[in-house]
Amino acid sequence: MHEQTQEITEIILKAKAKAIKETNHEPEPEFSKPINWPVNCVVGPGLEGAIACETKIGYVNGAKGWLIYRGYNIFDLCAYSSFEEVSYLLMYGYLPSESQLSAFKKKLIQYRYMHHTKRLLMSFPIEKMHPMAGLRLGTNLMRQEFTDADRENYTSNLAKIISADEDSIPMETKPKGEEHAIYEFKQPQRQQIISDDLKHATGFESCFHLLSGVATLTGAISRLRQGAMPIENDASLSFAANLIYTMTGKRPTPIEERIMDVSLILHADHGMNASTFASMVVASTLSDVYLSVGAGIAALQGPLHGGANERVIEMLNEIGSVDNVKPWFEKKRAKKEKVMGFGHRVYKAYDPRALVLGPLAKFMTKKSSNGKKLFKIAQALEKEVVSTLGKEKRIFPNVDFYSGIVYAAMGITAEFYTPIFAVSRVAGWTARVQEYMRNNRIFRPRAMYTGPFDKEYIPINKRKK
Ligand code: SDX
Repeated sequence: MHEQTQEITEIILKAKAKAIKETNHEPEPEFSKPINWPVNCVVGPGLEGAIACETKIGYVNGAKGWLIYRGYNIFDLCAYSSFEEVSYLLMYGYLPSESQLSAFKKKLIQYRYMHHTKRLLMSFPIEKMHPMAGLRLGTNLMRQEFTDADRENYTSNLAKIISADEDSIPMETKPKGEEHAIYEFKQPQRQQIISDDLKHATGFESCFHLLSGVATLTGAISRLRQGAMPIENDASLSFAANLIYTMTGKRPTPIEERIMDVSLILHADHGMNASTFASMVVASTLSDVYLSVGAGIAALQGPLHGGANERVIEMLNEIGSVDNVKPWFEKKRAKKEKVMGFGHRVYKAYDPRALVLGPLAKFMTKKSSNGKKLFKIAQALEKEVVSTLGKEKRIFPNVDFYSGIVYAAMGITAEFYTPIFAVSRVAGWTARVQEYMRNNRIFRPRAMYTGPFDKEYIPINKRKK
């Protein structure tokens, strides 16, 4: 661990001590045990309270403010682990040996390279799309890179092949006509890694391809939106450092790298949240993991979910000063509007992730005037909300409240905060898809029909005008 980053570890361990102190009085949870299906549970709208499946991947305890991945508490993982190691843990269920981790890191580095996908991506107006739309498009293009249509032995009917419009995809050489069409489907350069399960887009290899690929896409989309060409991944950088580098064009400091790594660990998995559930529903129809992750990206974008982190920065800028926090908040409350970055379906104590990201935001903004102002407004707002809604309705800061301030201090713009969330959550989405598929059952809840019966069909010419 770089000596400069020891301070980060101390901040995390202090947050752990604070979390334990704040919720020690809460009763110990009744520990979970295997379920005898069918199970009775009280279910509200939006499946609130429903138990969809069993899992060994992660556990969230709202009263105690616990977040656990495969039995390890999030504070220890942030203090001592890395995003690569945590992704391995989520997928395989145990911490890797040194050789397993090094092989896994090598594989993730190999999967960063997606020239064909990046070239296809560049033929779309990425700069005109929200980065999450670009990410969703990109995961479809990644899938195309390994599907039948790309295989050399694929007997294609050339007339049917969809050939791209030449000047829409920058090419090294300008192939013409039929030859051009074949060009679009020629095998990607990396023959050696097209394993069988990549082609069928359902196994672990596809998950790791997505884990690296979504980060590569985020970097490429960030550069394209700046009007610049995507930067090639750097195989010597860690996952977190390469993400910052390919997004900003600057190699991060050891502190920035460590804090991004901690943030990626914090966002990796979180029980049966909306985007994880969305990706599992798609997988349960035996679709494939690229489309499952695409569904997760789509669900995550919403401001009630992962999209909140982008809106928190907009909200803090709208408040504009510490003096305006109270009047702004009172107006919000009067209109019964929700404050972005606060509240949680499960946590009725502080979100442990906010307990880590808050002090990291303070640490990161110590040296930047704009960041310092945003952080002070955030702190004043936290105080207002916790002293009112916290007491009345157990509403506290969640993971999205401070994450944007941390990323802004790294020079990352707000529209990329949810994509970074998605980069990390691919670990949780794919681990849970793999776990669920081992005992798959298509998701098919019910809806209570409250409409009429026995209506008589009236031909259109006899209906009231
Ligand atoms: C994430 O599920 C996960 O695990 C998600 C996540 C993950 O890692 O995957 O943790 C990531 O999505 C974090 C949440 C990010 N979203 C926001 O910050 C948006 C603002 N928060 C809210 O929209 C809300 O708190 C939710 C959506 C997060 C949770 O909403 P619930 O559980 O459906 O709560 P609710 O809407 O039923 O609210 C209950 C009461 C209401 O008041 P009453 O009508 O009972 O008087 O609490 C109030 C709400 O008005 N309330 C808020 C509030 N959140 C809830 N009031 C003001 N501001 C808020 N943020």
